[in-house]
Amino acid sequence: MLQGQKALVTGANSGIGKATAIGLGRAGADVVVNYIADRAAAEKVVKEIERSGVRAYAHEADVSQEDQVTGMIATMVEEFGTIDILVANAGLQRDAPVTEMSLDYWRKVLDVNLTGQFLCAREAVKEFLRRGVVPEVSRAAGKIICVSSVHQIIPWAGHVNYASSKGGVQMMMATLAQELAPKRIRVNAVAPGAIRTPINRSAWETQSAEADLKKLIPYGRVGDPEDIASAVVVMASDLLDYVVGTTLYVDGGMTLFPGFETGG
Ligand code: BGC
Repeated sequence: MLQGQKALVTGANSGIGKATAIGLGRAGADVVVNYIADRAAAEKVVKEIERSGVRAYAHEADVSQEDQVTGMIATMVEEFGTIDILVANAGLQRDAPVTEMSLDYWRKVLDVNLTGQFLCAREAVKEFLRRGVVPEVSRAAGKIICVSSVHQIIPWAGHVNYASSKGGVQMMMATLAQELAPKRIRVNAVAPGAIRTPINRSAWETQSAEADLKKLIPYGRVGDPEDIASAVVVMASDLLDYVVGTTLYVDGGMTLFPGFETGG
């Protein structure tokens, strides 16, 4: 589905990013595995991707640092020739009730989750514009998939930094989509619900926590990273060439306000 395409996945050494990087490789893309900590884990992801017969390498960079992002994309253009797909995935939580939320926590989450996506998108777009459409590769000059969250629309008490960052991702995505569609660049988002990854371990690691979590999920199961990976692969492919500026919620129905099934 993505033969010959070059993809960058940020935060690809674990969780959703890892599954997505492996999924893109299975679909035929060469993949850069970005990470900030745990090189060994990133190298394992590279090995797994290479089993699909495509190229991959790991690149350490903090997506919130402009020079590191510029360097990462420049290296990718040297190594792979270009970039066709950016999956802006790197993200984190630093949770606290508002009165205890330090400016550091606020800034860290906004810097990584929102500014990090912006910097990666900006640098990828420069290369998309330089290269233009290559019809044998894809109908688009480039594809950006922002990994957002159900919390781009569901308010989340105790997580004001995180929810604000994802609300920002939604508007950044839509604005970039509007600005870049005339250049044949597709910008979209995939918004996961509760996915079994290290970021929300406490929400699923005990039976009772998982039972509580499932009350928020009409479909009745916690998501797997592969659920998101397949959505991203299809979103990046020409099968969805006419999809521009949308968010695909991959959440087992979490955004259907399940509390209203009986209430209201
Ligand atoms: C958060 C998880 C949370 C999920 C559903 C995600 O964006 O990172 O911690 O479980 O949303 O609330």
